[in-house]
Amino acid sequence: MIADSTAANLLGNIHGGEITKLADSTAGAVAQRHSGGPAVTAAMDEMAFLTPVHVGDILRTFAQVNWAGRSSMEVGVRIEAQPWNSAADGPRHVASGYFVFVAVDEDGQPRPVPDLVPETAQERRRHREAQIRRAHRLARKREIDSGREA
Ligand SMILES: CC(C)(COP(=O)(O)OP(=O)(O)OC[C@H]1O[C@@H](n2cnc3c(N)ncnc32)[C@H](O)[C@@H]1OP(=O)(O)O)[C@@H](O)C(=O)NCCC(=O)NCCS
Repeated sequence: MIADSTAANLLGNIHGGEITKLADSTAGAVAQRHSGGPAVTAAMDEMAFLTPVHVGDILRTFAQVNWAGRSSMEVGVRIEAQPWNSAADGPRHVASGYFVFVAVDEDGQPRPVPDLVPETAQERRRHREAQIRRAHRLARKREIDSGREA
């Protein structure tokens, strides 16, 4: 639960940055578990805030590794909220995002991660869509970098 009013903006809604931090922490735990050691956030994209979160809402985070490469992983995160004082209001989907984590060794250098073998239809869909996002991330980076070198 976020009960700290300094986490809220003047409308009484929780700052997007607070929600992103929670998502990043959850994704980091999942990346650490998959890779069997430390992993750092390399990038995040498509963080979407779907509906306001209020002070006192109970938040639940869900995350899974969607795709794993040589040393990087894409982790998808979903956050749900529910009022602290009413069980009648079902959880609402308030935010989602995709995080790229890179597994690192003791020198902070990338280290190999285990393969991810999607098994269910949903895992295969997430895996396929993560590959599309990765291709776009890398293409965008290449294009921007080549423009700067010119
Ligand atoms: C993340 C980090 C270790 C990558 O180091 P690097 O020398 O750039 O590594 P490489 O270029 O060899 O890339 C390693 C992997 O990360 C991926 N990667 C790196 N930057 C990326 C980005 N911006 N977007 C998507 N993927 C990225 C690469 O595609 C590669 O994936 P693969 O091994 O699965 O093919 C380094 O940039 C770093 O330490 N960043 C700071 C991390 C940090 O402090 N995070 C906040 C707190 S946790």
